[in-house]
Formats: sequence, structure tokens, C-alpha cells
Amino acid sequence: MPSHPGVSERVVFLGVTLECDRRVLTPRLETESLVLWTVQRSKGFPRPDAVIDVGTGSGAVILSVASRFPDSEWFAVDISTDALEVARKNAETNRIPVEFVQGDLLAPFFDANGLAKIAGKYVLILANLPYVGPGEDVGEDVVAEDPAIALYGGGERGFDLIVRLLGESLRLAESCKGMRLALEFWHTQLPLVKAWAEWYGLAVESWSDTSGIPRFAMLDYGNR
Ligand SMILES: C[S@@+](CC[C@H](N)C(=O)[O-])C[C@H]1O[C@@H](n2cnc3c(N)ncnc32)[C@H](O)[C@@H]1O
Repeated sequence: MPSHPGVSERVVFLGVTLECDRRVLTPRLETESLVLWTVQRSKGFPRPDAVIDVGTGSGAVILSVASRFPDSEWFAVDISTDALEVARKNAETNRIPVEFVQGDLLAPFFDANGLAKIAGKYVLILANLPYVGPGEDVGEDVVAEDPAIALYGGGERGFDLIVRLLGESLRLAESCKGMRLALEFWHTQLPLVKAWAEWYGLAVESWSDTSGIPRFAMLDYGNR
């Protein structure tokens, strides 16, 4: 059964106006750094043919990044049909033609034979997935106002969804021309991101939020 939308609030995220209700995470100011830094660090790389936002929620990331990559195709995934309803409406209001797909992480980008549907493209992925562990204190207001599916789901350390995304990206990258993945994560998780990047042999670059805490990283899956 769809959750009750509750009261809607208007949020301006990097110049894009979004209507958000209880079905989605209210976009956070720090997530603007995910978008801005990714755009800035993309200057030395090929133009992406496809930009994918994994865990789109209100659509904040893909709708704000779209104008920065005007020649790319724009995709956004969420496992929550409730969230996709909100994101689609925001895309419509802002007249930004994003292809929204319901699914688990990158699953929608593989066909039934496990082959990548976007083979041969240069792909840029951005993801702000749930990364809060069950024991973490995020504050009562956050628990009351944001849907649990947007906060939790990453297991004991809150990191399981990110680990899965790192692996699925590697699989997708095998048939793509090139790929980079930009992530937002919890303030304790940079060592985990770095360990996985090292395990997969990927270059990784991290950056901090406005309080100087490392909260973001970009992994380069290389060009083919
Ligand atoms: C932290 S919110 C981020 C929303 C938005 N990207 C933002 O930055 O404001 C995480 C989003 O990931 C979605 N999500 C959770 N598990 C997922 C999964 N396995 N596959 C795809 N999306 C997922 C949630 O429904 C939620 O909308």
C-alpha cells in the first residue's frame, strides 16, 4: 500500500524547485556538494553519454545535474514506487526529460541474460543511497519526517547497499566505454570505500562537506 504523502514542502536544490513530502528524503544541503564536485571533477574526463542517479528520491540529484550535462541521456532509479511518483512529478514541473525506472540499484540496466543495456556508452553514476546503521543517532525529527527506506537498509554498518553498488558498477563497466561513480556516504565510511576501491583496483578521490568531514568519493572504473 502506498505510504501517506503527508504535508508537502517546497525545496530549492541547486536552483531546481522540488515538491517533497513524506514519501521521499528531504534533499540535504550537503548533497549539493555531491553534484557540484562531481561536475567540477568531470572536466578532465570524457563527456558522459549516460548519467544515472541511483536512489533518486525526490529527483534532486538527477534534476540538478541534468543542465550540467546537457548532451547526455539522464536516468534515475529508485526501489520505491512512492519516491518515483514524487520524482516524476518534479521532473515534469521542471520540464526535464529523465527516464525513471523502478528497481534495485543497477538491476534495471541489465537484461534477462545479465547483459548491460547501456553497453558501449561512457557512464557517470551518482548515488546517495541509505547509509545509516541501525544504531546511529540521526535525530528524532529525521526519523519522524524521512521515510525509513531512505535512511536504512545498509545492514549493521549501513554500508551494504554501497558495497553492492560498487560490485554492480564493476559488472556494468565491463561492457561500457568508461565509467565513474560518485558517492555520498556516512562520516565513518571513507576507509570502507577506500578498501573496496583498492580491492577492485580502482582509483578513488574523496572530498569533504562544508564542516571538513569526508563524505564523498569518486571511483574511476577506467576507459575501454
Ligand atoms: C538517502 S535517499 C536519497 C534521495 C536523493 N537521492 C537525495 O539525495 O536527496 C536514498 C534513496 O534510495 C532509495 N533506495 C533504497 N534502497 C534502494 C535500492 N536497493 N535500489 C534503489 N534505490 C534504493 C530510497 O527509496 C531513497 O529514495
